[in-house]
Amino acid sequence: MARTSLDKNRIGFLLLENVHESAVAELAAAGYDQVTCLPEALPEDELIARLADARFLGIRSRTRVTRRVIEASPRLVAVGCFCIGTDQVDLAAASDHGVAVFNAPFSNTRSVAELVVAEAILLLRGVPARNVGCHRGAWLKSARDAHESRGKTLGIVGYGAIGSQVSVLAEALGMHVVYHDIEPKLPLGNALALSNLDAVLATSDVVTLHVPDTPETRGLIGAAELARMRPGAVLLNASRGTVVDLDALADALRGGHLAGAAVDVFPAEPRSPGDEFTSPLRGLDNALLTPHIGGSTVEAQANIGGEVARKLVMYSDNGTTTASVNFPEVALPGHPGAHRLLHVHRNVPGILSRINGVFSAGGINVSAQYLQTRDRLGYVVVDCDAASSEAALQELRDIEGTLRCRVLF
Ligand code: NAI
Repeated sequence: MARTSLDKNRIGFLLLENVHESAVAELAAAGYDQVTCLPEALPEDELIARLADARFLGIRSRTRVTRRVIEASPRLVAVGCFCIGTDQVDLAAASDHGVAVFNAPFSNTRSVAELVVAEAILLLRGVPARNVGCHRGAWLKSARDAHESRGKTLGIVGYGAIGSQVSVLAEALGMHVVYHDIEPKLPLGNALALSNLDAVLATSDVVTLHVPDTPETRGLIGAAELARMRPGAVLLNASRGTVVDLDALADALRGGHLAGAAVDVFPAEPRSPGDEFTSPLRGLDNALLTPHIGGSTVEAQANIGGEVARKLVMYSDNGTTTASVNFPEVALPGHPGAHRLLHVHRNVPGILSRINGVFSAGGINVSAQYLQTRDRLGYVVVDCDAASSEAALQELRDIEGTLRCRVLF
């Protein structure tokens, strides 16, 4: 097991918001047992007070890691977001102060893909309206407008992590898959890339949206796009609430142009379970509505705990920053026999030569060096003689522009 300059029992982790126990298990397996778990998010002042003792912070979506929090926490090494989004962290402030931020972008990909495929089948069979009918005492037993998924065309808008998983699962059902993405993407299986959104809308029996929230995707599907969909087609949105104009969708469902829709994400979502959910889609029997649960499964939560904890351990143990949200990405090998110095600095001219100057002036043997920059951050890793690392650490810390510096034994 890699050793760090601090004994592991002096490296504190603060995990908030009921982070999954898989995270604690992962940390324990790596030798970290100074882990404080709290069920709730902490307000700014309390968070700052708690971070006086912690070097690693784990949060979910409700904790705000503001610039003030980061500036008041000089010991903070990294923040792990045990979720997908990182909007809750002031990433610019984290970069300004050399704090690495990690998240779990793929942990719930499969969960979303499964829900989408299940909903596509239910919509093709007209199950939502028949379900509501039964609850009201109606018996809508008929094969009318009920279809198998086999042989139908599924159009995927956004062929990223989730879109491409949906593609694989849908082909297993015998669906033809077409997709549109603004970037070139390798088609999986027999999926066919189409050159624009309209081509997907015009050819698909089921259209499913898997794009991020960007200025280009806001309002991507409005009345005009819905009109270009095939009569009797169905639309699914489990991406972001801003992507679809819900008034236009409600009209298309009421007017019968679309046979159904499944919507998991909304432009305005209730902030807490007690708040009322309002939407133009409420009351439409052929709209399958879910409260933003696409990625919410027990498996996804467990995956997130393990994935983010592993990233924090890797960064703590050997300096690896692969898949960091804001940091220069470096995948580092082990450093047997050498001490490893990690130097995070402002990405300004001259720092690298000053770092190298520390080693040449001190006659310190360097066995490996790694450098990576990203935007305003530079990250230099130097493996050197064990006997000289402490002295080098002091000098590296004095270099102007240094943000964080530590040594791993
Ligand atoms: P991703 O980044 O892997 O894939 C997004 C894809 O959309 C990329 O390939 C990108 O090139 C493409 N894209 C961007 N703009 C586009 C445009 N204008 N037209 C066509 N393609 C475009 O993201 P991932 O992980 O697949 O997530 C997709 C969406 O699902 C995100 O909005 C995410 O927030 C959402 N999501 C929803 C969850 C839920 O609970 N409902 C859970 C997890 C993610």
